[in-house]
Amino acid sequence: MIDAKLISAEVEKIFASIEFTKEPAGLYDPLRYMISIGGKRIRPTLCLTACGLFCDTLPAEVRDCAAALEVFHTFTLIHDDIMDRSPLRRGVPTVWTKWNEDTAILSGDVMLIDAYTRIAKAPSHCHSEVMSLFSKTAAEVCEGQQFDMEFESRSDVTMAEYERMIGLKTAVLIACSAKIGALVAGAPADACDALYRYGYQLGMAFQIADDYLDAYGDEKVFGKPIGGDIINGKKSWLTIRALEKTDSVSAFMDAFNRDASTPEARQAKISAVKLFYDTLGVADDARAEIRRYSDLALEAVKDLPCDIEPLRQFSEKLIGRAK
Ligand code: IPE
Ligand code: IPE
Ligand code: MG
Ligand code: MG
Ligand code: MG
Repeated sequence: MIDAKLISAEVEKIFASIEFTKEPAGLYDPLRYMISIGGKRIRPTLCLTACGLFCDTLPAEVRDCAAALEVFHTFTLIHDDIMDRSPLRRGVPTVWTKWNEDTAILSGDVMLIDAYTRIAKAPSHCHSEVMSLFSKTAAEVCEGQQFDMEFESRSDVTMAEYERMIGLKTAVLIACSAKIGALVAGAPADACDALYRYGYQLGMAFQIADDYLDAYGDEKVFGKPIGGDIINGKKSWLTIRALEKTDSVSAFMDAFNRDASTPEARQAKISAVKLFYDTLGVADDARAEIRRYSDLALEAVKDLPCDIEPLRQFSEKLIGRAK
C-alpha cells in the first residue's frame, strides 16, 4: 500500500513536468493553460491510489496512464465548455472565451491525441486491455455528452435516463481510472472489476455533487458560474428530482423555461428555479443520494484482498468537496 500523501506528491510531480509541443503556440498554449490552472486531478489520483493498493512502489508506466486520464478529461472539459457556453472554469476564463471556438475545437482535438500517445505507453502485460478500456470509455463519454445535450430540450427525462446519461458522461471515466491503476499493478481480474464498480458508483456521486454545487456552491471555490445548469436548461439531478416531487410540473417548467437573455433575467430565473428546489427539499435529497452512491462504491470493494482504507479516504474527500 502507498500513502495518500505520497500519491498526491507523485501527481504533483507528473503535472509539473508534463510537456506539450511548443509550436504552433496557438494550438498548444491552451493545453499548457488548462493543465497549469490545475483542477482536482481526481482521475490520476484514483489511478495511482488503485495501483498502490497492489504494490509497494509505483511502476513507472502508471504515471503515463495517470497523465493520459487527466489529459483526456481536460480535453472533454475544453469541448464541454463550448457546448455549455461556459465562461469560467477553475476560476479562470474557458479556452473558447480566452481564445475562440475554433482554437478550443482544435486544441481539444490535439489534446485527445496527446492522451492516446500517453496511454499507449501502458505496459505490455496489460496493454491491449488498457487500450480497449480507454477507447470504450472515450466513446461512452461522447455518448453521455450527446444525451446531456438532447435532454436540454426535453421536459420528460426520467431519473433512469438521467442516471444512464451521467453514468456515461462522468462515471465511466472515473471507473476506468481506478481499473487502469489496478490493471497496471497486475491485480487479479476480479479485483480490477471491483475497482471499476467502485469508480463507477463514486462517479455517480461525483456528478450529482457537481449538479448540487452548480446551484448551491460558492462560485469562488467551485470555480464555475453558479446557476449555469439552470440557465442552460440542463436536466440536472435537482431538476429531475424536482419534476418527480412537484404537484405542478407546468409551474416548475414555466420557471425553468423563463427568459435568460439579460444578466437581470438570468438572476431572476436562477432564483425562481431555486425557490422550487428549496420548497421541494431537493438539495437534502441530493445529499442523501450522494451518500447512497458513495456507500455503494465502498460496498463494491469490501471483499478486496487488500486494505481498502485509501479508497474509503478517497471517497470521503470526494463527496465532501466544495469545488
Ligand atoms: C468536471 O470535472 C466535470 C465533471 C465530470 C463534473 P472535475 O470536477 O473533476 O474538474 P476539475 O478537473 O477538478 O476542474
Ligand atoms: C461534464 O458535465 C462532463 C464532461 C465534461 C464529460 P458538466 O457539463 O456538468 O461539467 P462542468 O460542470 O461543466 O464541469
Ligand atoms: Mg456539460
Ligand atoms: Mg459543462
Ligand atoms: Mg456541471
